[in-house]
Amino acid sequence: MSNRIAVVPGSFDPPTNGHLDVIRRAASLYDRLHVLVVHNPDKRGMLTVDERMRLLEESIAEAGIAGDITIAAWSEGLLVDYPRQVGAGVLVKGIRSQVDVAYETPMAVVNHHLSGVETVFLLADPANSLVSSSLVRQVSSLGGDVSPYVPGPVARHLASAHSEN
Ligand code: PNS
Repeated sequence: MSNRIAVVPGSFDPPTNGHLDVIRRAASLYDRLHVLVVHNPDKRGMLTVDERMRLLEESIAEAGIAGDITIAAWSEGLLVDYPRQVGAGVLVKGIRSQVDVAYETPMAVVNHHLSGVETVFLLADPANSLVSSSLVRQVSSLGGDVSPYVPGPVARHLASAHSEN
């Protein structure tokens, strides 16, 4: 288990500018990064897991984020089984507010008890602190322009998906 390898987990439904900022900063802190699309098979999201992975890949490329970055998906069992599987010692999460701290703290403690994996919190850029995937989903489903909140590939995908409906 290496503290130089980190996992950035999330639903990424869809990826937002906030996610991309955390990925960019985590890529500069760690030698190897796994961006992990965590998916509950019982829940139907707005985007398929394949779409989320493709949009993450395109967004990372378009933003010119350099580094050893793997994009993967996880839908089975405990989240910490994935870092254990790839030898990562760190989970990286973005924190926008006290609400995120309250939600993430118990998970970080339990994940550490379960596996020894540490959780590192990166404080969100205030420019992104009001952006969430659920807000983007809502605005997009009602036909609003979400391009200020999401990377270009995501904005283009949502705009074309909406115009097809
Ligand atoms: O982008 P999201 O929706 O905030 O991502 C949430 C996610 C999937 C990262 C979060 O729900 C999570 O860490 N789930 C872990 C599930 C798990 O292993 N629970 C048991 C120990 S806390």
